[in-house]
Amino acid sequence: MSYRSLNDPTDTAHLEAMPGRSGGVQELTLPVIQGTLGPSVLDIRSLYPEKGYLTYDPGYTSTASCASKITFVDGEKGILLHRGYPIAELAEKSTFLEVAYLLMEGELPSAKEYEDFSGSITIHNMLHEQLRNFYSGFRRDAHPMAIMVGVVGALSAFYHDSLDIRDPQQRMIASHRLIAKMPTIASMAYKYAIGQPFVYPRNDLKYEENFLYMMFGIPTTSYQVNPVVAKALNKILILHADHEQNASTSTVRLAGSTGANPFACIAAGIACLWGPAHGGANEAVLNMLREIGHKDRIPEFIKKAKDKNDPFRLMGFGHRVYKNYDPRATVLRAACHEVLAELGRKDDPLLDLAQALEKIALEDPYFIEKKLYPNVDFYSGIIFQAIGIPPAMFTVLFAVARTVGWIAQWMEMIEDPSQRIGRPRQLYTGHPMRPYVSLKERTTA
Ligand code: ACO
Repeated sequence: MSYRSLNDPTDTAHLEAMPGRSGGVQELTLPVIQGTLGPSVLDIRSLYPEKGYLTYDPGYTSTASCASKITFVDGEKGILLHRGYPIAELAEKSTFLEVAYLLMEGELPSAKEYEDFSGSITIHNMLHEQLRNFYSGFRRDAHPMAIMVGVVGALSAFYHDSLDIRDPQQRMIASHRLIAKMPTIASMAYKYAIGQPFVYPRNDLKYEENFLYMMFGIPTTSYQVNPVVAKALNKILILHADHEQNASTSTVRLAGSTGANPFACIAAGIACLWGPAHGGANEAVLNMLREIGHKDRIPEFIKKAKDKNDPFRLMGFGHRVYKNYDPRATVLRAACHEVLAELGRKDDPLLDLAQALEKIALEDPYFIEKKLYPNVDFYSGIIFQAIGIPPAMFTVLFAVARTVGWIAQWMEMIEDPSQRIGRPRQLYTGHPMRPYVSLKERTTA
């Protein structure tokens, strides 16, 4: 497989009839760069220095912010590949830590590499004991994502020996620490909210088993991990591990481009993920299903979603990139049925409602025309609910999974020799320059 390097464009594109800076009309020839898959890009790096123009792209719908080898998404065809491997195969055949290794290192691990990697993640799963004190500073009703932002950011105050981002060894240790400690931090946020003692991790359990144990174990009884639940959690973690240059990943890259330490960068990613248009959507899906309450009320809510004057949107539908079925939703839809059947909740009214809503929305001309398909959040909320994870924790689980994607993308950026601080420009639409008016001369409107 070969493809041109960034400095070896495959073609050029001509943009004509651009007004020149000093009047007249000028032509512009831009290099075109082709990746291994996906649309080619116009290389506009010389546009401002040479022509004095910026490009305007709010929401970055036509902007490739970086070159990356990690994840490929084809939104039209509904394809998602990690390092070339289709997501459905990874979800079916891999463990979450194998996928973490793949995202970070570029290849699936050999048996020895896997043992070393999972061993390293296991030995880093405890938190500095002093960090426990942070939790008691929060109100008991704090949203666990608020706790996550605070505690993950605070890791930089504890692990001084892995803050030097120029040192590959320190970067690696910080990365392993983050992946290892996220389930511990997340489950402690849950335990704090419900007033139960924190549960220390157990090194004899697998990553997802340990997470369940720390979430649901209590000191007074022994906790048996349900293998069906552990399998479903493994799948959910894989499906949420990375998704190209989404809002939170771009946030991590932007924060990291300044040289900020990895713990601070991941805390920034968590803050971004919290929003209901991003990671907060799975919690919003469940709230919406509860609000709808019964199949009979679906048409009323579909009508609201289509009404331009109503801010209501069907949560779990639509995606910036996918204009087809989200491949992760396909996997989760099947997993959802599997989990509910295994847990004896086949006739779950919420799943029933979700399926009816999905069917009606997929047949509705508005949703068809706008290519609004169910996204990954549509089903993850129902699975989480079935395995006993409370809605406020849904986005936290997403953050635990996405940490590996954030780290892989952050590492790729740091290791890129052409990396520079991320600094977008703007189209200024404010006042032109004007003289200052003293307070006594100002008139009120
Ligand atoms: N319900 C009803 N209408 C919708 C929905 C929806 N869920 N999503 C988009 N639309 C409509 C918009 O009103 C807009 O209509 P218009 O062209 O007539 O103005 C059109 O579809 C395009 O929508 P945009 O908001 O421009 O699309 P954008 O790419 O900016 O937004 C987003 C994508 C944020 C995901 C949006 O579809 C949405 O809000 N969905 C619901 C929230 C959600 O499920 N988020 C999870 C995303 S996946 C993830 O983070 C893992």
